[in-house]
Amino acid sequence: MFGKRKTFGGNTQNPTHAAPKPVSDDPVSTEKEVSSPASKPIAKAPASQKNIAHDDVFDVNAADGVAHDEEYFKTKSAIFSALIDSIDLSQLATMEMESAREEIRDIVSEIISLKAIVMSISEQEDLLDDICNDVLGYGPLEPLLARDDIADIMVNGPQKCYIEVGGRVKNTNVRFRDEAHLMNVCQRIVSEVGRRVDESSPICDARLPDGSRVNVIAPPLAIDGAALTIRKFKKDKLTLEQLVKFGSISPEGAELLRILGRVRGNVLISGGTGSGKTTLLNCMTAFIEPDERVITCEDSAELQLQQPHVVRLETRPPNLEGEGQITMRDLIKNCLRMRPERIIVGEVRGPEAFDLLQAMNTGHDGSMGTLHANSPREAMARMESMITMGGYSLPSRTIREMIVSSIDVIVQAARLRDGSRRITHVTEVLGMEGEVIVTQDIFLYDITGEDANGNLLGRHRSTGITKPKLAERARYFNEESALVEALEAANVEEQRAGG
Ligand SMILES: Nc1ncnc2c1ncn2[C@@H]1O[C@H](COP(=O)(O)OP(=O)(O)O)[C@@H](O)[C@H]1O
Ligand SMILES: [Mg+2]
Repeated sequence: MFGKRKTFGGNTQNPTHAAPKPVSDDPVSTEKEVSSPASKPIAKAPASQKNIAHDDVFDVNAADGVAHDEEYFKTKSAIFSALIDSIDLSQLATMEMESAREEIRDIVSEIISLKAIVMSISEQEDLLDDICNDVLGYGPLEPLLARDDIADIMVNGPQKCYIEVGGRVKNTNVRFRDEAHLMNVCQRIVSEVGRRVDESSPICDARLPDGSRVNVIAPPLAIDGAALTIRKFKKDKLTLEQLVKFGSISPEGAELLRILGRVRGNVLISGGTGSGKTTLLNCMTAFIEPDERVITCEDSAELQLQQPHVVRLETRPPNLEGEGQITMRDLIKNCLRMRPERIIVGEVRGPEAFDLLQAMNTGHDGSMGTLHANSPREAMARMESMITMGGYSLPSRTIREMIVSSIDVIVQAARLRDGSRRITHVTEVLGMEGEVIVTQDIFLYDITGEDANGNLLGRHRSTGITKPKLAERARYFNEESALVEALEAANVEEQRAGG
């Protein structure tokens, strides 16, 4: 439904307006664009927006080819109030999008001529777009939602809205009329999934019709006005080839991940928020054989498996009365009764860690999951503490033994300080030595420096281990020589670079 701005026509189709420059997904090239002063085309902020003018302000109006001044917003506000007074909103809601728009267009034109407001045709078109977005859609967020290159939208109260583009957070000049306007948009979003957000239930998770994840936290909990966070759903998930192209991983590293998927290693993908865990998990599922029965468990369905034999499960939050919740634990436990060959868990955040380990341990080789941690070692510690906090009174040695016997490899993803995303570790879990889990890095990313634009330089390399524990499994699946080759190739590169 976010495509609807296009069908609205208006200035987006006017060839005289500069089309928004698509910001590529390539973190490297995007960074260059952002940091080179010659290419800050969007920063033609009008005088009235000086107060929020900021080096990195992303001007939505400019992206559409127009920048509006304070006068425009005042006029819009006046017309909007007049419109609200003269239409029946509930009746409008039952109309088709196109006819509702026609209706609004007629009334707005009438108001403009009645009030004798002077406006150019293109300004009128913009105004109409804005008003329709307010009345029928998600208001000022529409232009942001319509763009596929934006990863996150973060609204902090009515006057501040940040976005993440190409790995970098930028301010925008998107703003809401007032707190009530913002709450209205929040309400519209969450009511679509049958939920409500107000003072009595100020926290709410929801999903947009396109799959984007939404969180709202309203006053009085959010002190400076409602905070709305949207993780945009990417229709076209990145592929492993694209990650290689972006430099997130080297070709040899990608080969290593392919082998890992093929030989049914149990893999834990670890990383911070937005580091690309889900993207990586999605890439790795591409190597699952088409005849394997795969069951995915997610909080919010994001994975896009291409195999025919997939069952997708999703958790459910409690309803307004606080009942009916289905947790990740419930799903994983149930999924064990569904004869899965592989279990894929979108994100492990709690006691379900135990069930995932059990599943990995009981013949569901090739299961995978993601987890929030900043290093492979931290990932294991997190796993342990999640199980402990889940109320299992197991000695920590037992939990560690479970981890060792279940997980084969931890793949670490990271978002570096320059905004680029990299696979930084491929680490094997080897066994126990006393009370301690022994691991072995087989593939790493080293940061070697920084270029003039503040972009980090670095390289992927193998650690020189040519006979990893994985080799045994690889032999069974006839992938041993490929594995050895990939690791050697990654190592030669290092020698060349080093000497
Ligand atoms: N290697 C990458 N290079 C560039 N962008 C990436 C990369 N990996 C992920 N992204 C983008 O980053 C955003 C967050 O990715 P996601 O996989 O959802 O992160 P996580 O699951 O760790 O929170 C998405 O918009 C995704 O397209
Ligand atoms: Mg994720």
